[in-house]
Amino acid sequence: MVIRLLPETTSNRIAAGEVVERPAAVVKELVENALDAGARHIRVALEEGGIGRVLVEDDGHGMDPEDLALAVDRHATSKLPEEAMLFAIGTLGFRGEALPSIGAVARLTITSRPVGGEAHRITVEGGRKSAVQPAAGAPGTRVEVTDLFFATPARRKFLRSPRSEADASIEALRRLALAWPQVGFEASLDGRAVLNLAPAARDARIRDLLGADFAAAALNVAGGAPGVLEISGLAGGPAFTRATAMEQHLVVNRRPVRDPLLRAALRVAYREVMVPGRHAVAALFLELPPAEVDVNVHPMKTELRFRDAAGVRSAVISALRRTLGHGVGPALGYAGPSSLSFRSPPHHAPRGFAEAPLPLGFAPPPPLAAPSMPVRAEHPLGRALAQVMETYILAEAPDGALILVDQHAAHERLTHERLAEEMRAGGVRSQPLLLPAVVELPQAARLAEAAPELARLGLELEGFGAGAVIVRALPAVLGTPDPAPLLRDLAEELTDSGEGVALAVRLDAAIARLACHGSIRAGRRLSPAEMDALLRAMERTPRAATCSHGRPTFLRLGQVEFAKLFGRS
Ligand SMILES: Nc1ncnc2c1ncn2[C@@H]1O[C@H](COP(=O)(O)OP(=O)(O)OP(=O)(O)O)[C@@H](O)[C@H]1O
Ligand SMILES: [Mg+2]
Repeated sequence: MVIRLLPETTSNRIAAGEVVERPAAVVKELVENALDAGARHIRVALEEGGIGRVLVEDDGHGMDPEDLALAVDRHATSKLPEEAMLFAIGTLGFRGEALPSIGAVARLTITSRPVGGEAHRITVEGGRKSAVQPAAGAPGTRVEVTDLFFATPARRKFLRSPRSEADASIEALRRLALAWPQVGFEASLDGRAVLNLAPAARDARIRDLLGADFAAAALNVAGGAPGVLEISGLAGGPAFTRATAMEQHLVVNRRPVRDPLLRAALRVAYREVMVPGRHAVAALFLELPPAEVDVNVHPMKTELRFRDAAGVRSAVISALRRTLGHGVGPALGYAGPSSLSFRSPPHHAPRGFAEAPLPLGFAPPPPLAAPSMPVRAEHPLGRALAQVMETYILAEAPDGALILVDQHAAHERLTHERLAEEMRAGGVRSQPLLLPAVVELPQAARLAEAAPELARLGLELEGFGAGAVIVRALPAVLGTPDPAPLLRDLAEELTDSGEGVALAVRLDAAIARLACHGSIRAGRRLSPAEMDALLRAMERTPRAATCSHGRPTFLRLGQVEFAKLFGRS
């Protein structure tokens, strides 16, 4: 017999919290238990998104009948030999909280057969446990949870659709699978296989979970100091970005975490090389002595506290910077654009977009003659002179200053404002597609659920079988972008902002995403007339001086700035 009751003092110290709030939490707890039991292979089966049934089978060391009876009691754990050990935890579980919590809100049946012993079974329903009975079963443990929250219907109301709940469970499983590559994982959803991961080396597991594109493009991270803090893993380069931080996987001592400190370290490390508003993709693994981390700070065990937080932070930042190759600071001798002044043009009263929309669906060859438009005082952004690098517009302001416009950033802001304007006027005008497009993506269910919201954004779609949506119309202002990347970004935006966020905020974020996709790209040749049209539209548009990500859309270099750049002042 190895399970003992925790002394009262210890159990009081353990944060009581909401352990089981949705099926994904059940999956996570049961799989963690299987991993702690030394399983080599774990099988998960979900029905009705896990609300109807979660089954987790492992081939770990199992439990004898006495342990089985104790396992479902509160604060019964085999994982803490000494009270002092609470501060040096090497297993995923340590509270003796998960099984009793699950047994309190669902029907729980555990069948377990220890090495060299017989199988036994115990059942807990709404907190009442049965006697331990002999049973048939393979070596290892099989835990079945049915009718989640049957005893607390109020809680059940807070669950999302079975598909969203299933997504969340699979996501929890992916995160654990990344941290435990040498263990095989299988998962099925209503009998259909959705995940099948053979035991693998770590890089192979990263490739299986984050994709071959990522694995091929990613850079090796190595840092820290042996025995103190070891940092390893793969990080995407600055061009490999996502709309959200969802694909930043952080594993500390084999525990997947969503730790704010580590997230912030990633942000800082990428800050100089990445477009603001985008997020890096990475799988980072930290190993440090268990006593250096306190995992008992969050009811779901997804956050932790480092004893030397500042040290961990700077080690992660410098390891990443070394990987990204920019640890030495800017190569140029001056301090960059921040020493120049950004000045927004005096706004005319915003007149919306009613007149003169940007000519977009066009590509006439650029005329050779200079544009004939005179520089007029009411056009503070002046007259377009040229386009350089197929990305920046050079213009001459009425007072002679040089205006530099980032064509994509500027157009993105215009599109954003126009979408926002249409929203305010009752909904974004949509343009039906000639042929509806089928787009496959993992968050299809979430998008389908958000269809009414998206319709207000001019985007008409509906679910199309499992894992796909069919798109029937797109916002008219966007022209005809490729719907697939647009939907992927939008789905990440909706997933990441979550339910707690106000609809207005979510819609505004979604509009920013749409605007990015509907805007002229860097690398697109513009005619002088198009450039002038862009400048005029910017002058009419509120907030035109920065793009949706907060970057400037144009720079203004007057006499003073030129003098500074040439060292004349
Ligand atoms: N799959 C399993 N195989 C073997 N033993 C198990 C398994 N699942 C649970 N146990 C035993 O039951 C005990 C209680 O499990 P439970 O998940 O409730 O608590 P814990 O894992 O110790 O802590 P935590 O609440 O932090 O998860 C465990 O300590 C372990 O001894
Ligand atoms: Mg546990």
